Amino acid sequence: NNIFYGRSLLNIDDFSADEINYLIDFAIHLKHLKKNNIKHEFLAGKNIALLFEKPSTRTRSSFVIAINDLGGHAEYLGTNDIHFGDEESVSDTAKVLGSMYDGIEFRGFKQQDVETLSKYSGVPVWNGLTDDSHPTQMLADFMTMKEKFGKLEGLTLTYVGDGRNNMANSLLITAALLGVNVHIVAPKSLFPSKANQELAQKYAQQSGAKVVITDDVDAGVKGSNVLYTDVWVSMGEDNWDERIQLLKPYQVNMEMIEKTGMNDDEIIFMHCLPSFHDNKTIKGQYIEEKYGLTALEVSDEVFNSKYAWQFTEAENRMHSIKAIVAATLGNLFIPKA
Ligand code: CP
Ligand code: NVA
Repeated sequence: NNIFYGRSLLNIDDFSADEINYLIDFAIHLKHLKKNNIKHEFLAGKNIALLFEKPSTRTRSSFVIAINDLGGHAEYLGTNDIHFGDEESVSDTAKVLGSMYDGIEFRGFKQQDVETLSKYSGVPVWNGLTDDSHPTQMLADFMTMKEKFGKLEGLTLTYVGDGRNNMANSLLITAALLGVNVHIVAPKSLFPSKANQELAQKYAQQSGAKVVITDDVDAGVKGSNVLYTDVWVSMGEDNWDERIQLLKPYQVNMEMIEKTGMNDDEIIFMHCLPSFHDNKTIKGQYIEEKYGLTALEVSDEVFNSKYAWQFTEAENRMHSIKAIVAATLGNLFIPKA
């Protein structure tokens, strides 16, 4: 019997630490199968809906490729293509999609919407990012750390930047669950919410992880194995002036890497992407013209350095999404984690 079968991933703590560790190891195994051209069509005959209210490169591509490799069929449904939330309620949409598809991915604004889809569809729903959380990203991120360091427990992950966004929320909770020490380094006005801090503390007490929330860069980054950052302005926001002003001292650059005090093989840089590390984008050119900056949350030097793991992390989205989709939909034998 498969303890993952039929379950949704709405928040990372819908699964226990043992179950998350199991999914990470399963993802590493699936990566090995893919690299060695070994077939793994656990989802033959399954149909999966991919709902997107926001743009996506990695998440969309990961779901499509993962489902193809698993022998299933993926259908992309942008909100301009379907009636979602506009002419038809989320709960009615959920009932219809659930009667046809075997599983649903949702990327959008409200966490409430992904919860409603799960409640009314009757099929597994995977959260591909909301304003509040990004749980499928967590599987890839902690898989990447495990690949680099060979273990998770006892590592120190430091997230620097907007401490209240979906990435900060999810990294804080996942690290605390898995026994990874977690530092959130952010200006006070962007500290994680009280509720999220309390939840992290609860899990940290069980796992033995240490949680530090600080606005002090020097103290916060010391001893980090992973320096992690994300965009200063997330999809759906438009508060550039305020964020650049607040977050300028929090850019991940070579000076910050030095401040960790770690040896070269003990520290990596991670980023969920996309990122403002140069001015090669239309938005990047706008930022340069308006603020005179060619990089925001991470310097181009760090982004292209030997510390950078963000592209392995991006590839691992596909392998780890394959793991959660196969585990929750496939008729696999998965021993109790
Ligand atoms: N990291 C991530 O979710 O990327 P996309 O927005 O490209 O899916
Ligand atoms: N915080 C970012 C993450 C993108 C993957 C956003 O929501 O835009």
